[in-house]
Amino acid sequence: MCGIIGYVGKQKAKPILMEGLKRLEYRGYDSAGLAVLDKAKVKSVRAVGMVVELEKKIAKLDLKGQVGVAHTRWATHGKPSVANSHPHTDCKNKIAVVHNGIIENYLELKKRLSRRGHKFKSETDTEVIVHLIEEERRKVNDLFEAVQRVLPKLVGAYGIAVISEADPDMIVIAKKGSPLLFGVGDDEYIVSSDAAAIISYTKQVVYLNDGEVAKITPKGYQVVEIGQGEVEKESVKISWTQESAQKSGFKHYMLKEIHEQPQAIESAIRGRVDKFIKEGSQTPILGGLAPTKEIRDRLAKIKRIIIVSCGTSYYSGLVGEYMIEEYAGIPVEVETASEFRYRRPVIDENTAILAISQSGETADTLEAIREGKLKGALSLGVVNVVGSTIARETDAGVYNHAGPEIGVASTKAFTSQISILTLITLSLGRQRQMSFVMGKRIAEELKRIPGLVKKTLKKEAEIKKIAKKYGKYDNWLYLGRKYNFPIAMEGALKLKEISYAHAEGYAAGEMKHGPIAMIDSNFPSLFIIPSDSVYEKVVSGVEEIKARGGKVLAIATEGNKEIAKLADDVIYIPKTLEMLTPLLSVVPLQLLAYHIGVSRGYDVDKPRNLAKSVTVE
Ligand code: M6R
Repeated sequence: MCGIIGYVGKQKAKPILMEGLKRLEYRGYDSAGLAVLDKAKVKSVRAVGMVVELEKKIAKLDLKGQVGVAHTRWATHGKPSVANSHPHTDCKNKIAVVHNGIIENYLELKKRLSRRGHKFKSETDTEVIVHLIEEERRKVNDLFEAVQRVLPKLVGAYGIAVISEADPDMIVIAKKGSPLLFGVGDDEYIVSSDAAAIISYTKQVVYLNDGEVAKITPKGYQVVEIGQGEVEKESVKISWTQESAQKSGFKHYMLKEIHEQPQAIESAIRGRVDKFIKEGSQTPILGGLAPTKEIRDRLAKIKRIIIVSCGTSYYSGLVGEYMIEEYAGIPVEVETASEFRYRRPVIDENTAILAISQSGETADTLEAIREGKLKGALSLGVVNVVGSTIARETDAGVYNHAGPEIGVASTKAFTSQISILTLITLSLGRQRQMSFVMGKRIAEELKRIPGLVKKTLKKEAEIKKIAKKYGKYDNWLYLGRKYNFPIAMEGALKLKEISYAHAEGYAAGEMKHGPIAMIDSNFPSLFIIPSDSVYEKVVSGVEEIKARGGKVLAIATEGNKEIAKLADDVIYIPKTLEMLTPLLSVVPLQLLAYHIGVSRGYDVDKPRNLAKSVTVE
């Protein structure tokens, strides 16, 4: 949600900032802007719309400055406009700030600052920060000190980067609740809210923790924790490659990531099940899940798991619930993270709270896990972005290793999460009642899944034709039962996100309790109906829809001829274990959403109003 980039070093800042903004555009694209310290003056340019609009505005400006900050915005306070775009500057245009997050007490601060004569130029919450810095900078020796004096006055979440005319060669950055890191180069540093944006420059990065402020100059960096003094920060190496963050010949990141799923699933299970299958070792190898004896012991004793997550990660959590309850026998609840903190969940030391998050930065999920920890739960994470806040704040966890996911509509993270949840099920199950034979059967089948996903992806041309046929419909019901109920919701979410068609994901059995009232010939139903233990029940639902003149598109198991007679169209997926069908059934739904979105003329990588990572509550 919003993207920050900053540069200080020996090169011209402008091209580096622009390149960074393009890579960060998936974080927000309402407007963009940059400020560079050029000939000791803050020069700022901002534009509404995509980064290309800023590029046009800035093309002829020869900015030579070697220090600068830039921002791509996802509007929270104040509509997208030039005045509301970042960077924001103080009354004299000598200090510039870019900000991610929300300053909750900004109205109160704004009133006070206005009374003291500050002139506001925007409707944003961010602008109070720069005016506060302006005041403090007058009282102290440098920008670093001034920012440290301002931060305790701010209530809310922020990742900020600040430059000032009085402090050339310096960027000051600070983090609380919004991701922020900087890459370490050779006498140069590049600040970013997202590691994927800077891997073409350096792979050595320093992640800031909440409450930390850093002063960065070409000569080095210094980090302090507010109220605690200086902290030693080492850089860590990111393993992602530059190619992994590019489109590599695909028209969209989303399509590339759909096609990357076989590798993403393979990476999720690589090195984790082979020994288990071959040697009959007790559990799959999930080192991060049991890093110490204490956590291993606590895991063996947990009586209940609460999964907290949002959006697509919430739906993978629901699949996890079914798996863990069926095969590990541990009660699981899955809760929308944004609800968790505001009610009174019952938690004790035998509860594990498991956060699932691609970005590892989703504010709602982060706050839910903090709440669980506070109440004594063991905190676990399934996170894709290495070093992200959730990954750092949980007691233990498993990384997806899916590579960067840039498409706003999440795809490969989802199947990767389900693969990891399968491994967690095996691990917890084997610690309890699951037989080795059962565990081995699941692990062996999981290893076949990348090949089966590849096979499913070969249906793309057929799915594209179906997308053309069904693309005109504005309302859909997506129906599934048991393991495929969450897939119905995930498929509907994908369609909503990128084609703006209305789709409701429903438990197939619930359809007759209400939604069937909406069915007519203009309201198709998509049934996920693999040949599993609930097949017969779901077929009844198909019959009921057909009896009312509704159109039916079915996702069914290869070899099922019966469904072809009932449904208007069928997309077949290979046969697998019931618990693993979601890994296959979701693929046609991703492709269908993608091709409907594209056929409707939308930029599926930049769906309107959405941002990749939602770092505000
Ligand atoms: O990074 P996270 O997995 O925590 O993100 C959770 C949701 O915001 C995310 O899945 C969102 O729903 C996507 N747009 C789904 O495609």
